[in-house]
Amino acid sequence: MQNWIYVCDKKDIDFEDLIRFDYNEKTFCIYNIKDGFYATDGMCTHEDVHLEDGLVTEDEIECPMHQGIFNIKTGAVIQDPPCDDLKTYDVKVDGEKIYININ
Ligand code: FES
Repeated sequence: MQNWIYVCDKKDIDFEDLIRFDYNEKTFCIYNIKDGFYATDGMCTHEDVHLEDGLVTEDEIECPMHQGIFNIKTGAVIQDPPCDDLKTYDVKVDGEKIYININ
Protein backbone atom coordinates (compact mmCIF):
# COMPACT_ATOMS: atom_id res chain seq x y z
CA MET A 1 0.00 0.00 0.00
CA GLN A 2 1.26 3.48 -0.85
CA ASN A 3 0.66 6.31 1.56
CA TRP A 4 3.32 8.93 0.93
CA ILE A 5 3.51 11.66 3.54
CA TYR A 6 5.63 14.80 3.25
CA VAL A 7 8.17 14.98 6.10
CA CYS A 8 10.52 17.91 5.53
CA ASP A 9 13.06 19.32 3.08
CA LYS A 10 16.49 17.72 2.58
CA LYS A 11 18.23 20.70 4.17
CA ASP A 12 16.32 20.12 7.41
CA ILE A 13 18.31 16.97 8.31
CA ASP A 14 22.02 17.36 8.91
CA PHE A 15 24.35 14.75 7.47
CA GLU A 16 24.79 11.72 9.77
CA ASP A 17 21.89 12.92 11.86
CA LEU A 18 18.16 12.35 12.19
CA ILE A 19 14.96 14.16 12.92
CA ARG A 20 11.86 13.01 14.74
CA PHE A 21 8.65 13.01 12.71
CA ASP A 22 5.24 12.52 14.32
CA TYR A 23 2.18 11.71 12.26
CA ASN A 24 -1.22 10.86 13.72
CA GLU A 25 -0.55 8.29 16.44
CA LYS A 26 2.83 7.25 15.10
CA THR A 27 6.37 8.52 15.51
CA PHE A 28 9.35 8.02 13.21
CA CYS A 29 13.02 8.82 12.78
CA ILE A 30 14.21 10.13 9.42
CA TYR A 31 17.95 9.82 8.77
CA ASN A 32 20.44 11.48 6.45
CA ILE A 33 23.38 9.11 5.87
CA LYS A 34 25.96 8.50 3.17
CA ASP A 35 23.67 6.40 0.98
CA GLY A 36 20.68 8.73 1.25
CA PHE A 37 17.62 9.25 3.41
CA TYR A 38 16.03 6.46 5.45
CA ALA A 39 13.17 6.07 7.89
CA THR A 40 12.44 3.81 10.85
CA ASP A 41 10.02 3.66 13.71
CA GLY A 42 10.92 6.28 16.27
CA MET A 43 10.72 4.13 19.39
CA CYS A 44 13.40 1.68 20.42
CA THR A 45 12.14 -1.91 20.47
CA HIS A 46 13.76 -2.55 23.86
CA GLU A 47 11.89 -0.08 26.04
CA ASP A 48 9.66 2.91 25.55
CA VAL A 49 12.44 5.31 24.56
CA HIS A 50 12.54 7.52 21.51
CA LEU A 51 15.60 7.28 19.28
CA GLU A 52 15.59 11.00 18.43
CA ASP A 53 18.50 11.63 20.83
CA GLY A 54 20.39 8.59 19.61
CA LEU A 55 23.78 8.66 17.94
CA VAL A 56 24.00 8.15 14.18
CA THR A 57 27.27 6.62 13.00
CA GLU A 58 27.48 5.72 9.30
CA ASP A 59 24.43 3.44 8.84
CA GLU A 60 23.77 2.70 12.50
CA ILE A 61 21.63 4.30 15.20
CA GLU A 62 22.57 3.83 18.84
CA CYS A 63 19.79 4.11 21.39
CA PRO A 64 20.50 6.76 24.04
CA MET A 65 19.16 4.60 26.89
CA HIS A 66 21.08 1.29 26.89
CA GLN A 67 23.22 1.70 23.79
CA GLY A 68 21.39 -0.89 21.71
CA ILE A 69 22.33 -0.45 18.05
CA PHE A 70 20.21 -0.91 14.91
CA ASN A 71 21.04 -0.83 11.21
CA ILE A 72 19.26 2.22 9.82
CA LYS A 73 18.70 0.70 6.37
CA THR A 74 17.33 -2.68 7.45
CA GLY A 75 16.23 -2.05 11.03
CA ALA A 76 18.21 -5.11 12.13
CA VAL A 77 19.54 -5.29 15.68
CA ILE A 78 23.34 -4.97 15.66
CA GLN A 79 23.93 -4.87 19.39
CA ASP A 80 21.68 -5.96 22.25
CA PRO A 81 19.84 -5.44 24.55
CA PRO A 82 17.05 -5.04 21.93
CA CYS A 83 15.88 -8.37 20.45
CA ASP A 84 13.37 -7.11 17.91
CA ASP A 85 14.32 -5.24 14.73
CA LEU A 86 13.07 -1.73 14.02
CA LYS A 87 10.39 -1.37 11.35
CA THR A 88 11.66 0.55 8.33
CA TYR A 89 9.77 2.68 5.79
CA ASP A 90 10.41 3.56 2.17
CA VAL A 91 11.65 7.09 1.57
CA LYS A 92 11.17 9.11 -1.61
CA VAL A 93 13.08 12.29 -2.43
CA ASP A 94 11.35 14.55 -4.93
CA GLY A 95 13.52 17.58 -5.62
CA GLU A 96 14.20 19.00 -2.19
CA LYS A 97 11.28 17.30 -0.49
CA ILE A 98 11.36 14.08 1.54
CA TYR A 99 8.38 11.74 1.80
CA ILE A 100 7.90 8.47 3.66
CA ASN A 101 5.52 5.69 2.79
CA ILE A 102 3.46 5.11 5.93
CA ASN A 103 1.89 1.77 5.11
S1 FES B 1 15.67 1.39 25.44
FE1 FES B 1 16.88 1.28 23.64
S2 FES B 1 18.45 -0.13 24.18
FE2 FES B 1 17.18 -0.08 25.93
